[in-house]
Amino acid sequence: MKVRKAVFPVAGLGTRFLPATKAIAKEMLPIVDKPLIQYAVEEAYASGITQIIFVTGASKKSIENHFGHTYELEHMLLARGKDAQLKEVQALIPESGSIIYTLQNQPLGLGHAIWCARNIVGNEPFAVLLADDLIEADTPVLKQMMEKFDELQSSIVSVVEVDQQDTSKYGILDADPLVNNVTKIRGLVEKPKPEEAPSNLAIIGRYILTPEIFDILEGKEVGAGGEIQITDAMARLLKTQDVYGYRYEGTRFDCGNKAGFQMANLAFSLDRPDMRNRLLPFIRDLIKKY
Ligand code: UTP
Repeated sequence: MKVRKAVFPVAGLGTRFLPATKAIAKEMLPIVDKPLIQYAVEEAYASGITQIIFVTGASKKSIENHFGHTYELEHMLLARGKDAQLKEVQALIPESGSIIYTLQNQPLGLGHAIWCARNIVGNEPFAVLLADDLIEADTPVLKQMMEKFDELQSSIVSVVEVDQQDTSKYGILDADPLVNNVTKIRGLVEKPKPEEAPSNLAIIGRYILTPEIFDILEGKEVGAGGEIQITDAMARLLKTQDVYGYRYEGTRFDCGNKAGFQMANLAFSLDRPDMRNRLLPFIRDLIKKY
C-alpha cells in the first residue's frame, strides 16, 4: 500500500497565540513571509502526496482564501507589473480537486479532528501533518517516513529525543533505543512526569497511520485535557498492529509556542542573504542590552 493522502488538522483554537489567532487559524501565522500551513503543504507535495485534506474549524476562511484564487489581488499585481509576486500567489493554487475541506464542528481534540477525515481517507494508509511543527530537512520529513512505510507497511510516528524534564509536554514512547533511527513501540504515555516517563522519545507532528485507527477513534474516548487524543488511539492500535517510531533527519521548530515560533522566524530570516545582512548587526546590538 502507498500513502497518497495527507490530513492537515487546522481546527485547533490556538489559545497560546491569542489574540493573533482570534480571526485566523494558528496555521496561518507566518514564518518570514509564508504561513506555517504552506510549509507543511509544500512538504506533503514534495513527498509525493496527491490528495490534501484540511480539517478546518471556526477560522476555515483564512485557510480557504490562502489556497484559493484572489482575483482582485491577481489583477492588481498584473496591472502593476509585479510578475514575480503574481507568479508566487498563483503557484499556491493547487490543481482542481486535489484539496478537500471538511469541518470539525467542535475542537474536541486532535484524535477527533483526524476522525473527521475518515470518509475522505477511506480504507488506505494516510499521513497527518501538524503545521506548527516546522521541520527544515534536506529530504522532506514526510518523504523520509513514506520511504520507511514502504518497507514496514505499518503505522509510523515521528519522534525526537527531548530533555527528561520536558516529557510532560509530549506523548512519550515506551520503546527500546533507536536502531538506524527506528524503534518498535511497546506502549505510549501521554504527558508523563519526568520520573515516570518510559523514555525520552517524544512524538511530534508527523504521522503515517493505517485506516484501522478510525475504528478506534470512533469510540470517541476522552483522554488528557478532556480531549479525544490521537496518542490514546495509537496506544490501542498497538495491541493489534505494529507501530514504529522514526527519528527524522532535520531541524524541528515547535511553532505551537511563542518562543519556538520566534526561533523559527529568526532562523529562517537569517537563512535569507538579503535579510541576514540587515539583521545580524541589529541582533548583535540588541543582545548587548540583555
Ligand atoms: P494543539 O494541541 O497545538 O492545540 O493542536 P491548538 O488548539 O492548536 O493550540 P493551543 O494549545 O490552544 O495554543 C495540535 C494540532 O491539532 C489541531 C490544531 O489545529 C493543531 O494543528 N487540532 C487540535 C484540531 O484540528 N482540532 C482540535 O480539536 C484540536
